[in-house]
Amino acid sequence: MKIRLLYLLFGITLIIACNQDKVYLNTPLDQLLDSALTRASKNADMADFILPESDDFAAIPQDAHNPLTKEKVHLGKWLFFETGLGLAPNKAAGEKTYSCASCHIPSAGFRPGGIQGIADGGIGFGQNGEGRTKLNAYRAHEMDVQGLRPLSVLNVAFVENSTWNGRFGSEGVNVGTEDRWLVAEGTDRNEEGLAALETQNIEGMGLHRMEITDEVLDGYGYRKYFDEAFGDLPEEERYTKRTASFAISAYLRALITNKAPFQAYLKGDRTAMTEQEKRGALVFFSDAKCYQCHKNANLGANEFYAL
Ligand code: HEC
Ligand code: HEC
Repeated sequence: MKIRLLYLLFGITLIIACNQDKVYLNTPLDQLLDSALTRASKNADMADFILPESDDFAAIPQDAHNPLTKEKVHLGKWLFFETGLGLAPNKAAGEKTYSCASCHIPSAGFRPGGIQGIADGGIGFGQNGEGRTKLNAYRAHEMDVQGLRPLSVLNVAFVENSTWNGRFGSEGVNVGTEDRWLVAEGTDRNEEGLAALETQNIEGMGLHRMEITDEVLDGYGYRKYFDEAFGDLPEEERYTKRTASFAISAYLRALITNKAPFQAYLKGDRTAMTEQEKRGALVFFSDAKCYQCHKNANLGANEFYAL
């Protein structure tokens, strides 16, 4: 009895780690999780799963054609939520009633609050977007509702093949799939070598019936923010759907789930996750083998799987 108790006491070795003035205890569960994370990581280092800070632009994946700057992120954040860009609606009743955020709602994880996202042709919001419904003046086929459920735009900086079928990607796993890139007729944007996100968002401004006009630039005061973000471009190229979409892409690249409890845990705060969450993470990164596909720091992969 005594010996067993002694073993037990020695068995539960508590490792004390100091990090930013806080003292954390490494429980046996933490140790199991740390080893699972280390084994599941690319370089045998659990720090591989740490996501960059949103203002650490050097560490965020980006398109060399659209380098990240805080001016672009700032402008893009406004434009993403700006219903004033809704200037090409199917019916007059829809004018200025929708934005990117009609379908990508922050409080719903940047997805719709309901099953589908409705932009032009929709009305209402609710708490988290679940209250948006069809505008009376529209018939179903006249609305901007895509044929599939909107994806989240969180951590999209790490996605090289954006959308469900990856059709906008021109790099990585998408090389050699050019015949499936359904870009609108007369456009050849993938051939510019832009990243998937930049390519998609140029397309998205048009698809979702948005315009950049003098009213937007001067009526709403956006011109000076375009000047700050794109001052290196000649004026005739500075205030366009293309620059607007580049700013939005920059904003989206900075939308990173780096404040998640799991991220704090990885950085050393052993108290950031509950016991139950730690057990879940342990299963995810070991026996359930979820990490074999969900393997990158964003817990995604730039690969396709036939599920
Ligand atoms: C009508 C609803 C709707 C609106 C408005 C909308 N989106 Fe989306 N978004 C979707 C849907 C649906 C998908 C998934 C499409 C697919 O996989 O083919 C998506 C996917 C995306 C993705 C890909 C995410 C990933 O992980 O691959 C990005 C990026 C994106 N949208 C950005 C935008 C931007 C920027 C705007 C505004 C210009 C916008 N969206 C407006 C419905 C919408
Ligand atoms: C064989 C590869 C593979 C394995 C193993 C795998 N997944 Fe996935 N998972 C995918 C793919 C591909 C998608 C996206 C397609 C889809 O949602 O249908 C996905 C999507 C998801 C999503 C939805 C993400 C979103 O943004 O909507 C969740 C949640 C998820 N997986 C959890 C898990 C968990 C938990 C496990 C382990 C029990 C697991 N996955 C194992 C390939 C995998």
